[in-house]
Amino acid sequence: MRGGLPCLTTVFEVRAVLDEARRESHTVGLVPTMGALHEGHLSLIRAARAANDVVVVSIFVNPTQFGPREDFARYPRDLERDRRLCEEAGADLIFSPSGDEMYPEGFSTWVDVEGLTVGLCGRSRPGHFRGVCTVVGKLLNICGPDRAYFGEKDAQQLAVIRRMVHDLDMRVEIVPCPTVREADGLAMSSRNVRLAPEERAQAPALYRALTAAKNLVAEGERDVATVEGTIRGMLAFEAPLGRVDYIEIVRADDLSPVTTASGQCLMALAVFFGGTRLIDNVPVTV
Ligand code: PAJ
Repeated sequence: MRGGLPCLTTVFEVRAVLDEARRESHTVGLVPTMGALHEGHLSLIRAARAANDVVVVSIFVNPTQFGPREDFARYPRDLERDRRLCEEAGADLIFSPSGDEMYPEGFSTWVDVEGLTVGLCGRSRPGHFRGVCTVVGKLLNICGPDRAYFGEKDAQQLAVIRRMVHDLDMRVEIVPCPTVREADGLAMSSRNVRLAPEERAQAPALYRALTAAKNLVAEGERDVATVEGTIRGMLAFEAPLGRVDYIEIVRADDLSPVTTASGQCLMALAVFFGGTRLIDNVPVTV
């Protein structure tokens, strides 16, 4: 690889650099990613840049959060491009470990958050959040950041990580960042590049349906079944190539399902286009 932004691959090297930074009383911001970076990731890096002396971006396609029939092998990877984007967004360091570095032989400790992980994406992705929490826990222990940045696009992931950090007394501030969207409303995702053109053309219907449902609630509709039915109907009409995994309205704090909209809620959905699973959500305050 060319010069420029340092890209470290071992726990030992990253610790050495960040220990040195902390000795000089520098604050550290961590942005965990799986690479194939887009504006959503870059907004996290910029937020970290604005608030910390040192910004570390981890790039690791974490095998333990993918199910056996999921897209681990096909997940998009382009480290050289990611490195350039990280540099432009103001990162100081990339941590890009190998699978063996993160999960050496004999690895057998897992972080399992209960409750919050049961519904929504947890239902169709058993073990997913166990993999996410384990790798994020490791990244937090390796980097020891003052702050770590996560996107609201993955609302359940954000809630689960907050729970883990709270329950395990981890000394880090979790900073949420708003969902970044394409001009047509589609939430940015590394997986969007895998959509066929006609799937890509229908995918903005996810956000349109969520927005229409939000407006329905703003106009006074409180019955969740009716609101979910509206979303389902719009998707059937505007995204016939999509197969709905779930459409749910849950309480924003504990992600428990609601039947009548009240307080702070989250409207969330997951839709398959072929083998590509897209998720999105919007907050609703009643
Ligand atoms: P990844 O999907 O690469 O996302 C990395 C971070 O970017 C997550 O916090 C995610 O919520 C955020 N993000 C993705 N798309 C976004 C968008 N359109 N707007 C705002 N933020 C967005 O999420 C993961 O990786 C992994 O599960 C990880 C936390 C790195 C653990 O392996």
